[in-house]
Amino acid sequence: MRDGSAVKNLALAPEGHRKIDWAARHSPVLNAVRDKYLKDGTFEGLGVGVSLPIEAKTAYLAVVLAEAGAEVAVAAPLPFVVQDDVAAALVERGVTVYASSENPPEEADRELERVLDAALDGREAVLIDDRAALVRLAHTTRRGLLPRIRGASEETTSGVAKLRAMAREGRLEFPCLAANDARCKHLFDNRYGTGQSSLEAIMHNTNLMLGGKRVVVLGYGWCGKGIARYAAGLGARVTVCEVDPVRGLEAYADGFDVLPALDAAGIGEIFITATGNRDVLTNEHFERMRDGAILANAGGVDVEIEVEGLRELAPEVREVRRNVEEFVMPDGRKLHLVGRGMVVNLTAGDGHPVEIMDLTFAIQALCAHHLANNHTSMKPRVHLLPKEIDDEVARTKLEAVGMGVDSLSSEQKEFLASWRE
Ligand SMILES: NC(=O)c1ccc[n+]([C@@H]2O[C@H](COP(=O)([O-])OP(=O)(O)OC[C@H]3O[C@@H](n4cnc5c(N)ncnc54)[C@H](O)[C@@H]3O)[C@@H](O)[C@H]2O)c1
Repeated sequence: MRDGSAVKNLALAPEGHRKIDWAARHSPVLNAVRDKYLKDGTFEGLGVGVSLPIEAKTAYLAVVLAEAGAEVAVAAPLPFVVQDDVAAALVERGVTVYASSENPPEEADRELERVLDAALDGREAVLIDDRAALVRLAHTTRRGLLPRIRGASEETTSGVAKLRAMAREGRLEFPCLAANDARCKHLFDNRYGTGQSSLEAIMHNTNLMLGGKRVVVLGYGWCGKGIARYAAGLGARVTVCEVDPVRGLEAYADGFDVLPALDAAGIGEIFITATGNRDVLTNEHFERMRDGAILANAGGVDVEIEVEGLRELAPEVREVRRNVEEFVMPDGRKLHLVGRGMVVNLTAGDGHPVEIMDLTFAIQALCAHHLANNHTSMKPRVHLLPKEIDDEVARTKLEAVGMGVDSLSSEQKEFLASWRE
């Protein structure tokens, strides 16, 4: 076992290797980025601390970075997003792993601290973070490591918001890249990835069909748009709930009903939150829901559905299918929660499709590379990935699928830049 790693069972590695190999085979963009940029020595002896769900695609990112010479250490932000076979295979491929599906959730911070300690063990490091967990710990319980952290790249909308809050208060002590805000990330990962994989997880775990069902999507950002679009494609009747009137209007123009959540509560059959906000579905909503309603959260925070309130309201809970809990309300209605109210496509599914994560992780690898090489000239705030890198990722993907785009001629560039013509 890689020194110091702590996983559930190394004997599970063969299945993990098969999963990682499948992800590698379907990752043409990350493979192209590896061949073109990552082998330039940037990562030789550099630490990379990673906090991401432990499954095949994230594992392949870690493997690519390790093969480029980095000392990679990984843990998951939550034990529910750990596939033990993949964790075992990662150890065999030279990555330090602190992750087991059996670890209690309260251990998560401890494992992430171990990632920081391992990645920065006598060396400098960059971080690839999820919901700003590693960055938060580096600035609180591991402050001694701060001078050796070159920067962090953030995967999620929620994490980027937290980093911006830290920067606003002058608390951020190294540069961060908002990988989430790269166009090749959120336009595809948040929209198509979350759209497909959240519905897949709900359908797989409930074994119910979407056609004809009233699906209520709460939040019409990139994730909500994807979920609504895929649900409609599968024949669902979609209602959207928003707090932003422009986004609500956009949902209406896209062909969906738009209602306040309390009104939608009484008509929905499946509710999916994707806001990144707290208390989006609470007791007030549960009390209005129909018998048999299904609830799931696709957003990045675990408090979108007030699960604690649901447990208090309906103390009788049983698991009716794997990953589906049934809450019996005092009046006899039964509400069903998929994936414990945590991010459903990861806690109760396989995460995004491989091709989506190929784009996301090509971005993440290039963010880590950019931070490693440019950190000294970057201020300690949240930066966007340079547009050329985004363009390069998109162009590589188009090439991989046998498509391409045109380039502007110098006359066209001049025409677009001029106000005289
Ligand atoms: N499941 C996944 O794999 C996955 C993938 C990407 C992002 N995420 C997470 O999903 C969440 C949403 O991401 P996004 O990129 O769509 O963000 P976004 O900012 O584009 O959209 C969020 C939307 O929710 C709306 N909203 C906020 N509070 C609301 C409330 N109380 N009721 C109704 N609407 C409300 C906002 O107005 C906004 O339109 C984030 O937490 C993000 O980290 C999850």
